[in-house]
Amino acid sequence: MLSVAGLRKRYGEVVALDGFELEVAPGEIVGLVGHNGAGKTTFARAVAALLRVDAGTVRVAGRPITPRRRRPGELGLAPQELALFPTTALENLRYAGRLYGLGRHTLAERIAETAEALGLTELLPRPVEDLSGGQQRRLHAAAAMLHRPRVLLLDEPTVGADPVTRELLLHAVRDLADRGTAVVYTTHYLPELEVLDATLAVADHGRVIARGSRAELLAALPGRVTLSFADGAGLVFPPDLSGHAGGLHGDDVVITAIDPAAAAARLLAANPEHAARLRSIALDAPSLDDLYRELLTRNGA
Ligand SMILES: Nc1ncnc2c1ncn2[C@@H]1O[C@H](COP(=O)(O)OP(=O)(O)O)[C@@H](O)[C@H]1O
Ligand SMILES: [Mg+2]
Repeated sequence: MLSVAGLRKRYGEVVALDGFELEVAPGEIVGLVGHNGAGKTTFARAVAALLRVDAGTVRVAGRPITPRRRRPGELGLAPQELALFPTTALENLRYAGRLYGLGRHTLAERIAETAEALGLTELLPRPVEDLSGGQQRRLHAAAAMLHRPRVLLLDEPTVGADPVTRELLLHAVRDLADRGTAVVYTTHYLPELEVLDATLAVADHGRVIARGSRAELLAALPGRVTLSFADGAGLVFPPDLSGHAGGLHGDDVVITAIDPAAAAARLLAANPEHAARLRSIALDAPSLDDLYRELLTRNGA
């Protein structure tokens, strides 16, 4: 549905996009992740034809998008910075809907639906400045989703958002994808991408350096397990779980392993007396930071 090839954009000496490529299928949600300055926002703005790129192509459903040939109805962008007009929530949505070419009847229907999905119904008559930060975030996203675009770009939509906002937003995005929209969702939070059941694209220095399912990209990364014992004295470590892989911290054992659950089981099997006095066990899945670190090491950075 969205097909981006060879995007380049330079700001003076700064190369913001350096051959950025991304394909997104209908109904797919791509979690676009990467450190600040990786080019994610520039990419989103380029796809929405809000800036002129130096090279590359953007296609939606096979048709090219350029600043001259914008197709507002096909694309929705919720930019990283909040952009709302100082009027009511309802007027903001009406304005967005008209911009996207919705007729009067459809507009009213979609506003009602989208407001409901994002918990904005009661807030529609309120002036934007009276809304909380989270409510403004939801309104900002609603304005981009209202017209059910074929391609939806959300640039860090949950930064500083409260849990209610996050949950409503994630569900609304998943629903839209289930109707066939191709979504690019920028975030720094891996758990959100689990909820969205998103695939991953990792951006670095203006290009995508890794692309695949979460399972593919995270499988090779070690996780961590912490076991707390009533008394850790006298614990025996199997050879592969000592040194770098694991150690005793007070009465806690922390082990880092590709399969942390199996490692914990081996440690307990080797220490049956301690196992009987295990207090708690906690698994930490690999984080996005672990993924960046691994990719950057592998690419020799
Ligand atoms: N309008 C601009 N003028 C100059 N430099 C810019 C501009 N927009 C982005 N950049 C630079 O381009 C790079 C990529 O930025 P950006 O796309 O915002 O990254 P991200 O969203 O991944 O944090 C950064 O080095 C940033 O400073
Ligand atoms: Mg950004």
